[in-house]
This record gives sequence, structure tokens and C-alpha cells, in this order.
Amino acid sequence: MAKKNVSMPLDKSKMPKHVAFIMDGNGRWAKKRGLPRKFGHAEGAKTFRKILRYCKSIGIEYVSFYAFSTENWKRPQDEVNAIMNLFRDYLKDLENFLAEECRAVFIGDKSIFDEDIRLSMEDFERRTAHCDKMTMLLAVNYGGRDEIVNAARILAQKVQDSEMTVSDINEETVNSQLYTACAPDVDLMIRPSGEQRISNFLLWQSAYAEFYYTDVLWPDFSPKHLDAAIEEFSNRKRRFGGI
Ligand code: FPP
Repeated sequence: MAKKNVSMPLDKSKMPKHVAFIMDGNGRWAKKRGLPRKFGHAEGAKTFRKILRYCKSIGIEYVSFYAFSTENWKRPQDEVNAIMNLFRDYLKDLENFLAEECRAVFIGDKSIFDEDIRLSMEDFERRTAHCDKMTMLLAVNYGGRDEIVNAARILAQKVQDSEMTVSDINEETVNSQLYTACAPDVDLMIRPSGEQRISNFLLWQSAYAEFYYTDVLWPDFSPKHLDAAIEEFSNRKRRFGGI
């Protein structure tokens, strides 16, 4: 049988419902061009918007992006400030999200952000909450372990307040307290830039995800690379622990 070319239409029945991206390689992209790292993040943010739009055009319902981890605060202040300013810039994109009927959910502990950013994120979420064509989850000050600890604390508090019992704690109730409660598990996790790690991203949600790695740096990641990842995903046999 002839090998399917990536430019051929994608097989809708084998499309992932939830695709997650670890947007890695911005710094190296900038370094290769003799530019400060923040230029790589600015280019990476453009790729984020391009890939989000492409995901919508091919019918992916849930898309997650790792934009800033709980560990990224350790980076030089100048780089952190540049990323915060990108958040500010992209938070002005609300009207386009509304026009595109794309719901935005910011996952992570938002309490740490400057008030203007935090309020804009909350406003963005509120104003796009009714959009049902696609859901975009943007991870900001996010850590997978932190998320699970947070869920455990909420459930423990509910037990202490007699709102539930210990035996009510199960996968469903834990899941309901994760930042991603509105989304299904991740089907396809994509990490560019040659690194093959999960780096504390969506640990619970990617229990049965298919992983796809590529050497392309995130700012160079394009729809054709996503097509190739989906093509490979559609050829994998998912067994979910069965045979
Ligand atoms: C990892 O690459 C990337 C980050 C820690 C930041 C990602 C942020 C963006 C793409 C901007 C997000 C903005 C919006 C609006 C979504 P790296 O810096 O670790 O790259 P390196 O491994 O090459 O150094």
C-alpha cells in the first residue's frame, strides 16, 4: 500500500481530540541567530497563535500549550519580564478569540501574577466561556505535581468539612479538581526541540497520551509538522493497558 503523504487530507476518524504542546526551543532559535532569548519567545508566541488557528481549522477540539512553568521563575528577570509582556500583548487578542469561538482557559496558579495580567486572564476566561468550537488551555505558572497537590488539598478540605467522605475520593473526583477539569485526557503530546521529557506538564492527564518528539525548534514548528505528528498518531495502536 502506498505510504500516505503528509499533504493528503487527515483522516478525521483518527484525529486526536486533545493535543498538548511543550513549546520548547525558543532560546536556541534566538541563539542560532545571535539574538537575545526574548526574541525566540516572541517568535514562539507567533507560532502558538498560528498553530492554535491551524488546530481549529482541522477540527481539534482541545489544545494545550505549556507557556510558563512553576520553575520558569528561576530564569533571568529580563527573560521573565519579556514573557510576561508577551502575555500582556496576547491578552489583547480577546476579540479574535470571540470571533473564532475559541474558549480560553488559563491553567496553573494565577495568584502569583501581577494584578493586570491576572485580571485580564480572568476576564478572558469569563468572556470566552460560552465558546464551544474549540478550547485552548494555556499553562501559566503551571506544574503537574503542583496541580495534583492542589486537588488533594481541595478534596481533603471537603472531607474535613464533611462535604464528602474518604471513600468518595476516586479518579473522577480527583480529576474534577484539576485545572483541566473541563477537558478530556491528552491524546497526543508534542515536544519539539529534540528534548524527550515531560517536564512536569499534564502528568495526570497524559497517563495514556501518545508522545511525539521532533528536532524542530518551536518557533519553526509549522502546520506541516503538526500534520506529520497527527499522521503518526493515527497509525499508532492505542491499547490503554489492554491487549
Ligand atoms: C521553552 O523554551 C519556552 C518557554 C519557557 C516559554 C514559552 C513561552 C512562549 C512561547 C511565549 C508564550 C506567550 C504566549 C502569549 C503564549 P526555552 O526558552 O527553554 O528554549 P531553549 O530550550 O532553547 O533554551
